[in-house]
Amino acid sequence: MEKEQVNLREIELKILKALSNSKAETTISDLGKETGLDHVAVVRASAWLGEKGLVELRETQKLYVEILKEGSRYVEEGLPERRLLNIILKLGGSATLSQLSKEASFSEEELKIALGWLRRKNWAEFRKQDNETLICVKEQPPLGDDENLLNLLKDRGVVEESQLPNEMKEMLDLLQKRNVINVRQEKVRSLIITEEGRRLVQSGVSVVEEVSILTSDLIKSGKWRSTKFRKYDVEAPVVTIHPGKIHPVAELINEIREIFLNLGFTEIRGPFVESAFWNFDALFQPQDHPAREMHDTFYLKFPKTAKLPDKQTVQRVSKTHEDGWKTGSTGWGYKWDARIARQTILRTHTTATTIRYLAEHPEPPVKVFSVDRVYRNEKLDYKHLAEFFQIEGIIVDENVTLRDLMGTLTEFYKRLGFEKVQFWPSYFPYTEPSLQSTVYVEEFGWIELCGMGIFRPEVTIPLGVKVPVLAWGGGFERLAMLRLGLEDIRDLYKNDLGWIRRTPILL
Ligand code: PHE
Repeated sequence: MEKEQVNLREIELKILKALSNSKAETTISDLGKETGLDHVAVVRASAWLGEKGLVELRETQKLYVEILKEGSRYVEEGLPERRLLNIILKLGGSATLSQLSKEASFSEEELKIALGWLRRKNWAEFRKQDNETLICVKEQPPLGDDENLLNLLKDRGVVEESQLPNEMKEMLDLLQKRNVINVRQEKVRSLIITEEGRRLVQSGVSVVEEVSILTSDLIKSGKWRSTKFRKYDVEAPVVTIHPGKIHPVAELINEIREIFLNLGFTEIRGPFVESAFWNFDALFQPQDHPAREMHDTFYLKFPKTAKLPDKQTVQRVSKTHEDGWKTGSTGWGYKWDARIARQTILRTHTTATTIRYLAEHPEPPVKVFSVDRVYRNEKLDYKHLAEFFQIEGIIVDENVTLRDLMGTLTEFYKRLGFEKVQFWPSYFPYTEPSLQSTVYVEEFGWIELCGMGIFRPEVTIPLGVKVPVLAWGGGFERLAMLRLGLEDIRDLYKNDLGWIRRTPILL
């Protein structure tokens, strides 16, 4: 078979020549310096040369040591133990603890550190004398390896670990723990020329002029006919760029908004600071309901109370709690207290927002949703946050049924990418019947997502609503974790820059 002639681009030849001058491997950054090419060009040409078998690409890990701010300060002022030793020497070679604690140049914390190291380095002797600790030093000890290393780093900036003498290497862990130096690992890519590459340089190789941009000049002059254009290579290495983008969580919220908007819903919002009236009472939750207790709900000190809505609404709601009013219910049978309803809280669910809206818009048809923040007094862990989002909505219309509710949510989940949805009986004080929706996810099984049901007459009749109200509300974060492949809920809001950058814009 005829051997294909090797053609090199100009940048490839430059690099190959630079490599043929040296016996050892050369790093990408050194090649850049030597050839005057920019980093991207070197990386790109290296990949081409590698493919042609003219160079071998190597990747090694290198450790670099650098001094931190605290370390620089220690170099200037001396390590705390050295400074303390000097003070004791000045005081005549010994000092009591209480004497030293009066030294203005040492904070309590720093003194503790200095004493610890005096003991550890064996620079001082600690004696008990009349219930006091006496610290005695004899002479100025020579500079230790840790101090020498700090001086060297201060002098030279970043130093590669392998360049350090062994006794200094042994100090690295210790100084890192003292927070005065940083050791970072870096990938270093380098190239070494192959035999074939060497032969090619020696035999003399022709450079092809490749053009990457078709200009109007090339077209007008007709030169394009004889021009060799560079092939498009979509896999060519390029510098990664991180353009500004919407946060993955906001991105998903927007997607959810769009789904509901496309299904004919309107978005509503309501206040984070709510009255207990809208968060609980209007939803027929009795005033001694356990969810109202301090361990679940954040109560506000300022403002301490909220205004209640119009008298009629308040009266109807209170009567309904007490004896059922005209709702056909017997109520909860206790004395309703307006003071409890006036308490201000951070809303614990966005049902507070839909019920508020319902009171103002009792006439059908109504189709509204919200994706908004709620607050609960939860201990934070991988599953729980104290502030999180809920996806909420209501449909108010004549003749709507539980089937419409299940159908709407099934469609919503389907558009989000969850095909298998099931509904289970559940309980909420404000709906009858009540359901819980679950979706099936391959790795996790059935996952509970949202509560729902038809608002009880005890909820709708006091607000003047005469038709059925389908309502649902549930967690957003679990969906987000599934979608983003996270196992710890806190990761959603940690804003780890690496994660934000890695997460694609289109999920
Ligand atoms: N508010 C309930 C929750 O926070 C969910 C729900 C909303 C249930 C509407 C029924 C109707 O879990």
